[in-house]
Amino acid sequence: MNQPVMQGLNLNLPSYVQHPRLIAWVAEIAALTGAASVYWCDGSTEEYQRLCEQLVRAGTFKKLNPELRPGSFLANSDPSDVARVEDRTFICTPQKEDAGPTNNWMAPAEMRTLLQTGDNALFKGSMRGRTLYVVPFSMGPLGSPIAHIGVELSDSPYVAVNMRLMTRMGRAVLDVLGSDGEFVPCVHTVGAPLQPGQADVPWPCNKTKYIVHYPETREIWSYGSGYGGNALLGKKCFALRIASTMGRQAAEGPSGSPGWLAEHMLVLGVENPQGKKYHVAAAFPSACGKTNFAMLIPPKAFAGWKVTTIGDDIAWIKPGADGRLYAINPEAGYFGVAPGTNAHTNPNCMASLERDVIFTNVALTDDGDVWWEGMTDTPPAHCIDWQGKDWTPAIAKETGAKAAHPNARFTVAATNNPALDANWDNPAGVPLDAFIFGGRRSTTVPLVTEARDWTEGVYMAATMGSETTAAAAGQQGVVRRDPFAMLPFMGYNMSDYFQHWLDLGAKLAASGATLPKIYCVNWFRKGDDGKFVWPGYGENMRVLKWMLDRIEGTGGGEEHVFGVTPNYGDLNWAGLDFSAAQFDTVTRIDAAEWHAEMKLHDELFTQLAHHLPAALPAVKARIAQRLQKEVG
Ligand code: OXD
Ligand code: MN
Repeated sequence: MNQPVMQGLNLNLPSYVQHPRLIAWVAEIAALTGAASVYWCDGSTEEYQRLCEQLVRAGTFKKLNPELRPGSFLANSDPSDVARVEDRTFICTPQKEDAGPTNNWMAPAEMRTLLQTGDNALFKGSMRGRTLYVVPFSMGPLGSPIAHIGVELSDSPYVAVNMRLMTRMGRAVLDVLGSDGEFVPCVHTVGAPLQPGQADVPWPCNKTKYIVHYPETREIWSYGSGYGGNALLGKKCFALRIASTMGRQAAEGPSGSPGWLAEHMLVLGVENPQGKKYHVAAAFPSACGKTNFAMLIPPKAFAGWKVTTIGDDIAWIKPGADGRLYAINPEAGYFGVAPGTNAHTNPNCMASLERDVIFTNVALTDDGDVWWEGMTDTPPAHCIDWQGKDWTPAIAKETGAKAAHPNARFTVAATNNPALDANWDNPAGVPLDAFIFGGRRSTTVPLVTEARDWTEGVYMAATMGSETTAAAAGQQGVVRRDPFAMLPFMGYNMSDYFQHWLDLGAKLAASGATLPKIYCVNWFRKGDDGKFVWPGYGENMRVLKWMLDRIEGTGGGEEHVFGVTPNYGDLNWAGLDFSAAQFDTVTRIDAAEWHAEMKLHDELFTQLAHHLPAALPAVKARIAQRLQKEVG
């Protein structure tokens, strides 16, 4: 094939690329960004290793000791580029109200001027001196009717290798795309062009950052950051923000289809000793234990129970022909939070991290391995912290310096996970029996509550609050409303999203389908001593088992203000010393706390008044009445 040459740039087109629209777009972006060369990722192991070696030579990666951590690398980011930047994330719908009050918005034309077309447009010349990597990827099993394809053009080889672990990436995707298949175009630049002869830095990025979505044209443009959530565009940008709009659009029009859901949820399988298998999808905000829950190992007293992982962060959920909801994990890897992960909190995760991992912003030990706070009881006597400085326990005591950044991450292929579900890659997905919604709340919210019906469940999810974590730049530990754990990831108006959930439930119920039960949990309640009361981690199996008992109709419980909660005797306590008094501490409903909480629900509903489904204030009014009557 003749090599197209655009403005002197050879596109280096492999002969297997047969998609004229894709080729023209790559040429257009290469011209806009002034990239020095173009490289098409084929997704091979050889390519992955070559790019990792290149990153080692560039100083971005350190190769870890192959005896201790084979095939693994450590990257230290620029200290300013460590988390998602929610205040720089935009949903550019033509009408502001379609992005809704929870999203930053700019008119598409204005944003395009800023990024692409204006005299000083940020993407103009932004890849000068760098290679443009063409990264074709599939979200979901290759060729599955549920999957969707994206192509990311990025000037970051760090992105290319991470995308190989996080998605099905490379030539096979282009084979599925053929000559005219649809793909979501994703453009990413670190925003650090190089002048001729200018030396590069290990982690190029720009102080100015834009993470931009055009839902109407299904485009993503990301400028200035190399951090995963801002730069691996298949994940939050595509699989949540763009996909959530795709799921809702599928419900529009005359087809009568209920559409589908793109959710910030782990998906797990749980099998009882009799071999009956259930599937549960659970939404928690970032850095609130989704990966731990997805890889849970049941306590000893639950002999014969088995939990397996389908996904740890994102679920695409579609009604099947039988009316049940089926979930797939669109991702193929885990980009998880390292600090706090250890052999007690998540043994399966520790096993997943034994080899072939990319670590970002953890500490480097003197023997060439990694360490992070909470990994071991005894810290290493010395290590190099995530900013390249000497770190010792004495320095930490004196200055409070962390060896690893609190949002330090690992990137690893799902196939490393010993608890991987046999159906994790099944194009048909797995049928869901329950949804769980959980925030991080030191007070107020009980350990577990079952919604009495779909609408009450949607209310629980919509009004969920959570204390902020290091996964996003900004203040931490502040309670904010995080509806469905989707606040930073909604691609459209939040109230329209609530309506979509209500409509989908109503349509499925009308067709006679059994909807998944909905639960609200809180693992994070603290006692007067400021310590977590509930032991969490593997012990969460006790709560999960109660949910399954409820699904089977055998679980006890008591109906009260918000739904149904278990009594102390309804949970299996075998092998755990957890008293009725402690149970009371994590389940008690305090009148003053709940009156304050209901005011926050009010504030949320005022903020979301435009298109807010009437069913939600109606649930609120019922709860407020019962609260007054039963709690005081
Ligand atoms: C993530 C996040 O990286 O939610 O999954 O921030
Ligand atoms: Mn997440």
